[in-house]
Amino acid sequence: MHLYGTQSINENGHLTIGGVDAVDLAAQYGTPLFVYDIALFRERAQAFQKTFENEQVGYQVAYASKAFSGIAIYQVAAQEGLSLDVVSGGELYTAIQSGFPKEKIHFHGNNKSQAEIDMAFDEEIGCIVVDNFHEIDLLKKTAEQRQQKMNILLRVTPGIEAHTHDYITTGQEDSKFGFDLNNGQADRAFMETYAHEQLELIGLHCHIGSQIFETAAFQMASEKLLLKMAGWKQDHSYTCSVLNLGGGFGIRYTEEDAPLEPAVYVKDMIRTVKTASEGAGFPVPEIWIEPGRSLIGDAGTTLYTIGSTKDVPDTRRYAAVDGGMSDNIRPALYGAKYSSLLANRAQEQAEQVYTIAGKCCESGDKLIEEAQLPEVSAGDILAVFCTGAYGYSMASNYNRITRPAVVFVEEGKHQLVIRRESFEDLIKNEVGYVQEEAKP
Ligand code: LLP
Repeated sequence: MHLYGTQSINENGHLTIGGVDAVDLAAQYGTPLFVYDIALFRERAQAFQKTFENEQVGYQVAYASKAFSGIAIYQVAAQEGLSLDVVSGGELYTAIQSGFPKEKIHFHGNNKSQAEIDMAFDEEIGCIVVDNFHEIDLLKKTAEQRQQKMNILLRVTPGIEAHTHDYITTGQEDSKFGFDLNNGQADRAFMETYAHEQLELIGLHCHIGSQIFETAAFQMASEKLLLKMAGWKQDHSYTCSVLNLGGGFGIRYTEEDAPLEPAVYVKDMIRTVKTASEGAGFPVPEIWIEPGRSLIGDAGTTLYTIGSTKDVPDTRRYAAVDGGMSDNIRPALYGAKYSSLLANRAQEQAEQVYTIAGKCCESGDKLIEEAQLPEVSAGDILAVFCTGAYGYSMASNYNRITRPAVVFVEEGKHQLVIRRESFEDLIKNEVGYVQEEAKP
């Protein structure tokens, strides 16, 4: 059994998180319930930041908040001195409402609307990561009309796609994001922006994938970007001050996953950037990263109550929980794997194998294909680990299932940070349909 962060088993044989009994949490707040171990989030944030400090380079660690966004987590991110990556007007609005320092907000997206761009200018956020030529046009017009400066980074695709242990390098990348580094698009984007009066081109950005377990792909990507920067320095005397290498650092969902420590990813990255910049004869740029999953993923646990079970003789035993793809789409969408434990009987031998099914009307609504558990009964509390990233944030109301509540636990205390949706919430935007009376 692998426990995460502050998790342990207490004298009652119950799972505890942040010093709080998970069974009590389920009883008090109901299930499904997202429980976040805030000490673990802080520890991860500090581990990234400390490595940069030890290596003595300028840096920003931006929390990729698409992984789990909300006022409370933005408040914690601010306390930890993180920057924030937002990708929509909605995330930006939430960040502003949380009081997040505006100058540390980075705005991403491959199709930012004029309204979103206006919002970024109104709020005077830290920077916009520019994705495409249409956006360059919108930004230029907006900045000129307003006579207002805005820092920008160009998002480029370096032709490296990484996922878990594999990466591929291609001359060109078939991605909806960013300017291709190899086919002249990035150079054109540079020419269109670097001398602009209001747009302050501060650097380059790339994000090469997710759930990555080795450092080679990050090194290759940084070398490619630095080579481009060196070219622009030589040809246009332009010096990039920021290199943003995105997120994608892997985490341990199951025993099959063997992630590196945050420090390892970052150290290798920094060394590559230092060597390549020295080789090219320009100052080491600030290095920015955007971890989402590796900051918040294993801090999150979902608690469910087990209800019905079904045996398919000689084939499989199903145990159904009171949530499913409505609060965690990842198994259905990506075949993602998770590990679990009975929170109320955490010390019992796990001698049975169950398929954990959700309650949605969809055969593919299975959370775990093969969960090793004791013989389960209705009312048992199932803890599914590592659901902190892309669980709540990708939740839906499919089948009109209400979104779960979210609780933060830290140092023996618990606090509700997002209320469970109610049935009233489900219809709050509905205005009904009244058929016009037929004309005579
Ligand atoms: N920066 C950029 C520009 C990104 O596109 C992403 C993720 C990140 C940072 C954060 O990546 P992370 O460190 O969390 O891997 N829904 C999928 C993941 C989609 C990731 C999209 N971009 C999942 O559940 O696995």
